[in-house]
Amino acid sequence: MYPTEVIIDRSALRQNFRAIASLVSPSQLVPVIKSDGYGHGIVEVARAFADAGARQFAVFRLEEALTLRQAGITQDLWIMMGLLPEEAEVANDAGFRVACPDLANARMLSQIATKGKRHFDIHLKIDTGMGRLGVLPESVADATREIAALPGLRLHGIFSHLANADSPEHPVTRRQLDCFRALLPSLPATCRENHLCASRAILHRYLPELPYVRPGICVYGAPEFPGLRLDLRPAMSLRSRVISCKTLPAGANVSYNCICTLKRPSLVGVLPVGYADGYLRELSNCGEALVRGRRVPILGTVCMGMVMVDLSDLPEAQVGDEAVLLGKQGDQEITVWEISEKARSIAHVVYCGIGSAAAAAGQRHYQN
Ligand SMILES: Cc1ncc(COP(=O)(O)O)c(C=O)c1O
Repeated sequence: MYPTEVIIDRSALRQNFRAIASLVSPSQLVPVIKSDGYGHGIVEVARAFADAGARQFAVFRLEEALTLRQAGITQDLWIMMGLLPEEAEVANDAGFRVACPDLANARMLSQIATKGKRHFDIHLKIDTGMGRLGVLPESVADATREIAALPGLRLHGIFSHLANADSPEHPVTRRQLDCFRALLPSLPATCRENHLCASRAILHRYLPELPYVRPGICVYGAPEFPGLRLDLRPAMSLRSRVISCKTLPAGANVSYNCICTLKRPSLVGVLPVGYADGYLRELSNCGEALVRGRRVPILGTVCMGMVMVDLSDLPEAQVGDEAVLLGKQGDQEITVWEISEKARSIAHVVYCGIGSAAAAAGQRHYQN
């Protein structure tokens, strides 16, 4: 069997869901499972979260919602991108809850709904400062009034997204939170499903009075920030094996571009995993792997399908040894934060890249 694989631990997904659900209770959790469940597999994560009590899921695109229905997921599905005209009839038949980014979109949904089988349940997106989708705050009153008068639409709530949720003191965060809070009292009475908080906002406990939260990265177990101790456990690990091992002399070059010249005679192991597997090239010369329970440095440039590690301090290492590039081995762990910081990226990118490459290769496996 091919030696590089991604393992997804379903019990970690269930544990994370429960930990965050109890943190935000009585607000309800709507896990964000777009982009193939952040690389974890959209259907498998939906099943795991449903087992832990999830009653609705947020996806980005119509196709994702259809995939979930076809797989037998019965929970409410929220489509956050909204719908294109050619998608609206199918979404209406299926009864998905959709985000509405502007009035033109609301009018289109209304036309489809009046021709179709049922009304559309919608959430109106508000652009409080993200500069992406949504109605500007000053237009919310007019927009909700017009939507209420459009046939075939039921406006259940408004929602927004923070541009800088990491920084509670950032003026943009403050402005976005104040703006969203200020909109709530004047909403129509039907607008009860209001939501704003993704992972960082939840962990900072912004606007805890809102009835729904939309966490992504934290339900996959990416560790929270210092000071807040939640029982989260990463669900994804990336494992490979040593396929070759040889001693190179001091002064030898390892891998492309000559960015690694050995300072001492070194035992160099080769792992069949590279940037095509989502192991970022930015980890060249700075990443680490776990072999025999010890950290070993990545040597030189990460190649498309291979990477070299320095096994000199592990003279007993041999071909066939397991190498962990993300996850635990013994009492050591390489976290997604560690990788994303070294690669100057974010956990979302690491998970999506590693998970989707493994799925495409048929090398994403599940346990528990
Ligand atoms: C609108 C919206 N809500 C929620 C999320 C989840 O964010 P996070 O993974 O940081 O929790 C995202 C992520 O991209 C998003 O775009």
